[in-house]
Amino acid sequence: MRVLVTGGAGFIGSNFVHLTNTSRSEVKMTVLDAFTYAGDRASLHGVGVDIVAGDISDAALVDRLVAESDLVVHFAAESHNDNSLAEPLPFVQTNLVGTYTLLEAVRKHDVRYHHISTDEVYGDLDLDDPERFTEATPYNPSSPYSSTKAGSDLLVRAWVRSFGVRATISNCSNNYGPRQHVEKFIPRQITNILDGVRPKLYGDGLNVRDWIHVDDHNRAVWTIIERGEIGQTYLIGADGEESNKRVVEQILVAMGKDASDYDHVTDRAGHDRRYAIDSTKLRTELGWEPGFSDFAAGLTDTIDWYRANESWWRPQKAAAEAKYADQAVIGS
Ligand code: NAD
Ligand code: DAU
Repeated sequence: MRVLVTGGAGFIGSNFVHLTNTSRSEVKMTVLDAFTYAGDRASLHGVGVDIVAGDISDAALVDRLVAESDLVVHFAAESHNDNSLAEPLPFVQTNLVGTYTLLEAVRKHDVRYHHISTDEVYGDLDLDDPERFTEATPYNPSSPYSSTKAGSDLLVRAWVRSFGVRATISNCSNNYGPRQHVEKFIPRQITNILDGVRPKLYGDGLNVRDWIHVDDHNRAVWTIIERGEIGQTYLIGADGEESNKRVVEQILVAMGKDASDYDHVTDRAGHDRRYAIDSTKLRTELGWEPGFSDFAAGLTDTIDWYRANESWWRPQKAAAEAKYADQAVIGS
């Protein structure tokens, strides 16, 4: 079986490649990645995988690679909300035109396709809302990032219904774990502390994210590929709701600092208040359960990974912080 993994040099995609490499010897993988600022060859070090540097919007390249594959797992995206506020166009190009290009190729070659998406397509919840997102929640995205992800999901649904494309979609909550770019919340704070810089909390810090370990996400993706029903959407979440304030405090304490050693900075424009996933469908219909139930332990492992792998994150750090400094009102 040959799997085309788009965005396989990014955070979740590279962890998918590592997990698949160690758990499924029958699977051969081709990674298609544009190696944007978020893609890193070092993330695939030591894995037996064919790597193609290229853009998912390149129709001729995508057509050739899809024709050689039995399955496409589509991780590639512009993935960071703050960047989408500063410069939305790459999000429209990669998340919408790129997904369209892949869909046309899997349609032509009748190749099974799994689409990786986000809980952000559903907008946000109030802190005291007893409801959580389900597969029936209406789409209501807030940012250029989440609106382009929502659009890409809708393209997939249309290609399933109109053209019979064999696709499934998953919408997952916030991932944490090794090899996440230092622009993102948890690695940014860990690496700030390692650099002697105080962590930065947007606004009042009471925004809630629903954390899941990246390996649990990727195991769920394999579960959906193997047991999911074509045309269906599955929400992936591990009941991991935490406020940003609590996460920063946990990181500080785990790294031997005082829990109050952080600063509040200007809030993100349109900042979603809370995400929360109800993953009952995935659990009851497909039998998936998360393996990482202890967020504090997972966070400690992640801190240890960044401590031990400075050579991986150091080349990203100055550029990521310079970008934040340029984005005047965001997190500087
Ligand atoms: P990431 O930014 O770490 O990695 C994205 C990868 O895609 C990079 O390797 C980059 O080089 C590549 N890429 C970007 N544009 C490309 C293009 N035009 N052609 C080919 N490759 C391109 O992102 P991530 O956090 O690993 O997210 C992966 C996917 O998971 C995305 O679709 C994202 O929307 C989704 N998702 C992420 C999270 C999360 O918490 N990070 C949660 C739910 C869903
Ligand atoms: O919910 C899934 C989504 O999670 C994915 O679709 C996105 O690709 C992924 O980037 C993530 O989006 P968020 O915007 O939730 O993640 P981020 O790491 O940027 O921020 C997490 C929270 O922390 C958010 O409430 C903003 C806040 N934050 C972020 C940074 C970078 C801070 O308070 N300080 C910071 O320095």
